[in-house]
Amino acid sequence: MVVKDNLRTPIVCVMGHVDHGKTSLLDMIRGSSVVSGEAGAITQHIGATEVPISAIVDKCGNPGLLDKFMVPGLLFIDTPGHHAFTTLRSRGGALADLAVVIVDINEGFKPQTIESLNILQQHKTPFVVVANKIDKIHGWNPQKGAPFMTSYNKQSEHVRGSLDTKFYEVVGELYKNGFSSDRYDRVNDFQHNIGVIPISAITGEGIPDLLMVLLGLAQRFLESNLHYNAEGPGVGTVLEVKEERGLGTTLDLILYDGVLKKGDTIVVGCLGEPIQTKVRAILKPRALSEINVEDKFKQVSKVTAAVGVKISAPHLDGALSGGSVRVATAETLDAVVEEVRNEVEDV
Ligand code: GTP
Ligand code: MG
Repeated sequence: MVVKDNLRTPIVCVMGHVDHGKTSLLDMIRGSSVVSGEAGAITQHIGATEVPISAIVDKCGNPGLLDKFMVPGLLFIDTPGHHAFTTLRSRGGALADLAVVIVDINEGFKPQTIESLNILQQHKTPFVVVANKIDKIHGWNPQKGAPFMTSYNKQSEHVRGSLDTKFYEVVGELYKNGFSSDRYDRVNDFQHNIGVIPISAITGEGIPDLLMVLLGLAQRFLESNLHYNAEGPGVGTVLEVKEERGLGTTLDLILYDGVLKKGDTIVVGCLGEPIQTKVRAILKPRALSEINVEDKFKQVSKVTAAVGVKISAPHLDGALSGGSVRVATAETLDAVVEEVRNEVEDV
């Protein structure tokens, strides 16, 4: 087994139609309650949460897995499902190494379900589909936190029949959109055949199965990205530009490659000439905390991709959400400025 150091944490984006349960799914994985703090339970920002491998394995209920996987954890990105936020979904999709497309099994496919699939197809991002809210199927007998098959086998024949019907409607919709898929336990190669996992974000049923499939995909991702240079210059995308009391203008960003250190010179995309500044502080949310609601950031001197952090630096006014942040040295500065200038034209 390869040593676990210096491996890039895979970025997993959760996408889908409004209210289909993206934030609830992350709440279940984190053991948090972010949804209840959202106005009208509508997500309006891209979020990011680091979930360590130990927390994932814990939810799978099989500690022996810790030796099997070399992934250090997963960085989950939450996206809004409301139709107004296509830009944020595209940004999340562009950052993702892997994705989870969530669909309410009782409502079926909706416009933003299809939009999410299109974004992922455009970026060639591997993904799984979760058919959520199985606990709302009439007559469902909930089995808290159970693997899907355990729960399925405890349902009456009639309820199993209802689930199967709704489930195969999801498979049929995927087919109509150009994807061959099947129930995840019948899929051998998740990169060619989409695995569909029935879950409930509220009762936790099917969550162990989802996490196992994600770990398998993440492992594949890492194996094909071992060339990743953990000591290379940091590269990230700005999620949000925020005014913070005592810090002035700050950036919430996802560092998706390399290293970012306090004191580094960074080049930040903006509508005019890119900003050149020095990192004054790096503030990291706690593990399992959503960066959007975190209030106990920890100051750190160095972070390695992939990670969501808040940074403070002088002259950040005018920084562009969705723009790049790149670390530069005296030798690379001119080239990096040019690169960031070109990237802004694509935002
Ligand atoms: P946006 O971020 O606005 O796109 O919504 P979302 O996809 O994050 O949905 P959210 O997690 O906010 O859930 C919407 C509503 O559905 C909330 O009231 C949740 O409690 C409820 N919900 C989510 N998942 C489930 C589930 O598995 N079962 C049941 N019964 N309710 C669920
Ligand atoms: Mg949400």
